[in-house]
Amino acid sequence: MRLDGIVAVITGGAGGMGRSTALLFAREGARVVVGDVDEAVGASLADEAADLPGEIRYRPCDVSREADIAALVAEAEEHYGRLDTIFNNAGIEQPVTPTPEVGEGLFRQVIDTNLLGTFFGIKHALPALERAGGGTIVNNSSVSAFANVGGNIAYAASKGAVMSMTRVVAIEYARRNIRCNAINPGVIDTGMNQRNKALADDPEAMERRWSEITPMGRMGTGDEIAEAVLFLASPASSFITGVGLLVDGGRVAT
Ligand SMILES: NC(=O)c1ccc[n+]([C@@H]2O[C@H](COP(=O)([O-])OP(=O)(O)OC[C@H]3O[C@@H](n4cnc5c(N)ncnc54)[C@H](O)[C@@H]3O)[C@@H](O)[C@H]2O)c1
Repeated sequence: MRLDGIVAVITGGAGGMGRSTALLFAREGARVVVGDVDEAVGASLADEAADLPGEIRYRPCDVSREADIAALVAEAEEHYGRLDTIFNNAGIEQPVTPTPEVGEGLFRQVIDTNLLGTFFGIKHALPALERAGGGTIVNNSSVSAFANVGGNIAYAASKGAVMSMTRVVAIEYARRNIRCNAINPGVIDTGMNQRNKALADDPEAMERRWSEITPMGRMGTGDEIAEAVLFLASPASSFITGVGLLVDGGRVAT
């Protein structure tokens, strides 16, 4: 078991790649506290993990509310006695919108969840990780920090900023046994892209385009993302900090 006994917090862990990661972590022996706004699905996670070596607890959490994140981290420490790693994963998409039509409300909504939510996760995890003697932070950025097709200015801004925060924290904590890295997923088959597809004028054309811009010619899976998160969260990546790991089927290589 690659994560035997470690204590993890995962935001946005009820769905998509967060859920895949929570289940992989529990299969590898971790005790996981998931925070998510989706209470119905979140509450089913503990049962789903019942036969796994680790376990999953769910706590309602809206990452755009600092008090929610503080309580999520506190729950890990109160229930399991420590925090070893946090995956700041919760995020929302921006419906494809030409830049002049992006309202302040939409821009703020994306930033509040994707950027502020990640900041709150980092901020509240750091003292807990220090109390545990060190640990790891993995932030969910995106290929959008490097490559875009347009119509997603708020989303790309939020994900670029997540990369910048990742580097700052890596430097601040490099000599304090806390590593901070990001993953940069390409097009992944999750609820987010199912919603993006449903909103498109021509959903089939949108799916074809996703395959065309990905050299491997397909979408990635949540399980493929989970393996990358596990690598960055675990001692297997012990000399890696401040990087973004592209998990994108070759997209940014083009
Ligand atoms: N799907 C992709 O192609 C893709 C690519 C690159 C990056 N990402 C990023 O990966 C992360 C996960 O996305 P996904 O594709 O698994 O999406 P998803 O919509 O399938 O799952 C996201 C989860 O986050 C939760 N969530 C949303 N807002 C929240 C909030 N304010 N507080 C707490 N939980 C919240 C949702 O309830 C859901 O369970 C996001 O940060 C996303 O931006 C996705």
